[in-house]
Amino acid sequence: MKIIENNGVFILETENTHYCIAINSEGTPEHLHWGRKCADEDYRSVYKSHERNSNHSAKDLGKTEYLPFGGTVYRPVAFKATYPDRCREAVLTYKDFNISEVDGAFTLELILEDKPYKAEVSLFYKLRENTDIIERYAVIRNNSDRSITLHKVASGEFNLPSLRPYTSTNFNGSWGGEFRKVNSVVRNGALTYESTKGGSNHTVNPCFILSENADEKKGDVFFGALAWTGNFKTEISRDFAGRTRVVIGINDFDFSYTLHPGEEFTAPSVFCGYANGFAEMSNAMNAFAIEYILPKRYAKEPLPVLYNSWEATGFNVTSAGQQKIAELAAEIGCELFVMDDGWFGSRLNDHAGLGDWNVNRFKFPRGLKPLIDKVKGLGMRFGLWFEPEMVNPNSNLFRAHPDWAYHYDTRKASLLRHQLVLNLTRDDVKEFVFSCMDNMLCEYDISYIKWDMNRAYSETGAENLENPQELWYRHVKAVYEIADRLKAKHPDLQIECCASGGGRVDLGALSHFDMVWTSDNTDPLDRLTIQQGFSLIYPIKCMRAWVTDTNRGSRPSDWDFRFNVTMQGSLSIGGDLTKYTKKELKIHKDYIRLYKEIRNTVQFGRFYRLANFEEDRLFATQYVDDEQSVLFFCTKANSFFNDNFHHIKLQGLDENAKYTVSYDKTKEIYGGAYLMNVGLSFETWGTLQSKIIRIIKNK
Ligand code: GLA
Repeated sequence: MKIIENNGVFILETENTHYCIAINSEGTPEHLHWGRKCADEDYRSVYKSHERNSNHSAKDLGKTEYLPFGGTVYRPVAFKATYPDRCREAVLTYKDFNISEVDGAFTLELILEDKPYKAEVSLFYKLRENTDIIERYAVIRNNSDRSITLHKVASGEFNLPSLRPYTSTNFNGSWGGEFRKVNSVVRNGALTYESTKGGSNHTVNPCFILSENADEKKGDVFFGALAWTGNFKTEISRDFAGRTRVVIGINDFDFSYTLHPGEEFTAPSVFCGYANGFAEMSNAMNAFAIEYILPKRYAKEPLPVLYNSWEATGFNVTSAGQQKIAELAAEIGCELFVMDDGWFGSRLNDHAGLGDWNVNRFKFPRGLKPLIDKVKGLGMRFGLWFEPEMVNPNSNLFRAHPDWAYHYDTRKASLLRHQLVLNLTRDDVKEFVFSCMDNMLCEYDISYIKWDMNRAYSETGAENLENPQELWYRHVKAVYEIADRLKAKHPDLQIECCASGGGRVDLGALSHFDMVWTSDNTDPLDRLTIQQGFSLIYPIKCMRAWVTDTNRGSRPSDWDFRFNVTMQGSLSIGGDLTKYTKKELKIHKDYIRLYKEIRNTVQFGRFYRLANFEEDRLFATQYVDDEQSVLFFCTKANSFFNDNFHHIKLQGLDENAKYTVSYDKTKEIYGGAYLMNVGLSFETWGTLQSKIIRIIKNK
């Protein structure tokens, strides 16, 4: 890893890649290369300042690192501002650079300036040891004595090398259907993925994955994930000359930010990289998130097996009822008991109670202590559900403070799930939200919060702000600040980020929360698709997955199938244990015991998506560390077309080592080379079949 500057050429060298920039004759940072390493001396500016004809400007053709709106620019820009004299164009020219080293990370700062307005834009590129992931972000400074209005401040602009159309991978998700992967070939125009809902949303995700001739094992893959849990925009465009570019950052939709004299604005980071194949991308991001993104306290600890009450008891939580389930949860091996919605205020259903974070005395006559004592006595930790950013109009909070929700006096507030969004840009509201959770944490022995958020924003009036369009930004920052404050005051607290399932899965959330609730859809077959999409860019250990018994009215599946799907992430239990037979509880106990033996490999190992239903007869995922490997495979149904026969070649093993392969009652020894080059054959008969195969490296 190093950063070199040579006559205005900057070479950022990661473990296996180069990212190179030149300051061209116009004083513009020009993108030179991103990908495999080349000889340092070969990098130089190729910028031509003359127009080819009056319809295609030199600026439009250039490979820019951070294009401002202004002059002859007619393509997606990274930056747009209005200056105090109402000039709406920016000219950013190179001023200086800094290379610094802090805690083993190297950072390049390119300082650009818009001289007449005393505005500066610093582009940051941060490199860390043993990874190809680069962190990029931008900081805007106002050194003048008048305010500047920012309209668009992207985190980064990227140029891709090939003139052939790239394939963009993102998701066509929904509530209950997150991370359904879609590949789109970007031939012309622009492909935009964005959220305008306030959160990072279920539909498309704030990341980009652009590939050329790629599969799991090989091919060029350029990717980036934005660390932002709010409105975002990713613009992937391809011009007439075949150049593909990406601009990613906070969404400029309904956004502006007033930068007062002496202030600065920091755009969120985008973590980007180049990989050879999708598996390399996912493994790089997985390892990077564990090392550098997740809150430190639990980043390297395996997540506990939790029990969550939601699917079993819904809003109908009572002290006695939860204690009964807790006994069974402990018996089967759960380590954490989380009571979900329903414990507070007048919460009998989702029409009332949000905002009143005091224990419901009808359901818990002596408060939560008897339940928590019971849970602790059973050897589990205790967790509690909150939806702290929300309020039901039918609540004491709303009756006392109707102005605490975002609103316009002249507009009727739109309810979604009978609730409104609290205006977290107000200091008093922010303090209230912090204290409602803090009070409970101080009063009770609670070590886990499930922080939910179940609706998109509307009527986003925030008249407390000088510039109300800052609310999109300030709300997200307030969420981060509250989560950080809670963790600072209660250092052992774990927080799960939930937004009606996976509505807030992004690297911003994962910088402040320890994990996410992946989806409200716990149907195991659907889950395979959701989990595989999630695994592309987000860390496996953060992917909470529940074994439940509802199946939401879809096809029935046996316990093996449910566990074999769920154990591919962070295993949790969500069914009504009081209804299970002894035999079913024993199945749970056995699988939880097995999961504890393999969870280090699953949560921290390298992993490979070996097969999927689109292309193969089965779905298979393999996890590997230095001691063992675990292979899961699942089928849909078998037909009469002979799709009962399967063959899987493993990956990532030591070719010279011997492995003991065990499944069902079989135990066989094979060499690593054999398992990877020849592979294993299986037959499955019946519907929704699954297997877990343990492959233990012989000493
Ligand atoms: C959301 C969450 C669920 C559950 C309910 C409670 O839908 O995603 O897991 O917590 O809210 O109301």
